[in-house]
Amino acid sequence: MAPIPNGIMINSLSGTALGNNSGLRSWPADAPCSSTLLEEAQTAYSLKRREKPLVGLQARRPPVTPAKRLPMYVLETRGLRKAYGSEGEVCVNALRGVNLQVRKGELLAIMGPSGSGKSTLLHILGGVETPTSGQVLLEGVDLATLSDDQRTIIRRERMGFIFQSFNLLPAFTAEENVALPLELGGMPSVEARRRAADTLRLVGMSHRRNHVPTTMSGGEQQRVAIARALVMRPALLLADEPTGNLDSNNGRQVTALLRRLVTEDEQTIVMVTHDANVAAQADRLVRLRDGLEETAETPSHAPTRERERVGAGRTCLFKGTG
Ligand SMILES: Nc1ncnc2c1ncn2[C@@H]1O[C@H](COP(=O)(O)OP(=O)(O)OP(=O)(O)O)[C@@H](O)[C@H]1O
Ligand SMILES: [Mg+2]
Repeated sequence: MAPIPNGIMINSLSGTALGNNSGLRSWPADAPCSSTLLEEAQTAYSLKRREKPLVGLQARRPPVTPAKRLPMYVLETRGLRKAYGSEGEVCVNALRGVNLQVRKGELLAIMGPSGSGKSTLLHILGGVETPTSGQVLLEGVDLATLSDDQRTIIRRERMGFIFQSFNLLPAFTAEENVALPLELGGMPSVEARRRAADTLRLVGMSHRRNHVPTTMSGGEQQRVAIARALVMRPALLLADEPTGNLDSNNGRQVTALLRRLVTEDEQTIVMVTHDANVAAQADRLVRLRDGLEETAETPSHAPTRERERVGAGRTCLFKGTG
């Protein structure tokens, strides 16, 4: 693995080093070296080493410390609100009280017109942004009750992220890209590369493991990005327009892969999409409009084409209301 260059952007969601792109923040300067993080990463790694050998899709089940009582939902939001703008300024109520419940092994699609709050919701679920009010519970844990370091670990170890633009490191091979989150968590390179190879096999990309992203098709790059999101065995995958940059054939393959991960491995996925054909593969569809769930439906009833409308009527003079 090539050394990580100074100043590289790290995906604060998954702990993955990335090129310049939207939705990214710099990794906190002290994060990879902090003793707490290092200790926790080493503990997590030593737990993982005691697992049985990897076999098939089930190989990716995480070595979770058994909870006293399993939470009913992998993900839950309660009254989630987000207002942009400071006091006295015109503000935008991007989210106005969103309540979601996502069960283990469920593929939830979120659709809605441009400006309806889909990306804002995903950023808050991923801990990149904080809500103005309301709660996000991941596996029963309220993210707001965690310290910054704890949230960073949760994001890296329990959440995986898939972006429209893949966000692979161009100078790294597929296998190096996938191994990176593990190595950032303190896993020795040989073990990280072995797990990366296993995960690439899972997404049907073994034959391209030594290729760099520019030599792969968009669909292949997205499958590598999915492998990178899966390699930490996250409880939750968050996908923002995962087929948005793909042609229909590659889009179908990526959608089928996500569906298979849910059906065969009980992976939980929340996916934003504009494509009704992609949403049709989901177990449930939630439509956002003006920062609120408009409807929840089963995808078989989804229209063939999502209506587009720019969100309007939500600007206000900031009063802490929404
Ligand atoms: N950083 C910000 N500051 C101010 N307003 C913002 C900010 N981010 C988003 N908004 C506003 O919040 C609303 C919701 O934006 P968001 O990006 O979540 O929409 P979206 O549903 O993802 O749209 P699209 O389908 O176009 O990606 C929009 O009115 C947007 O202008
Ligand atoms: Mg968006």
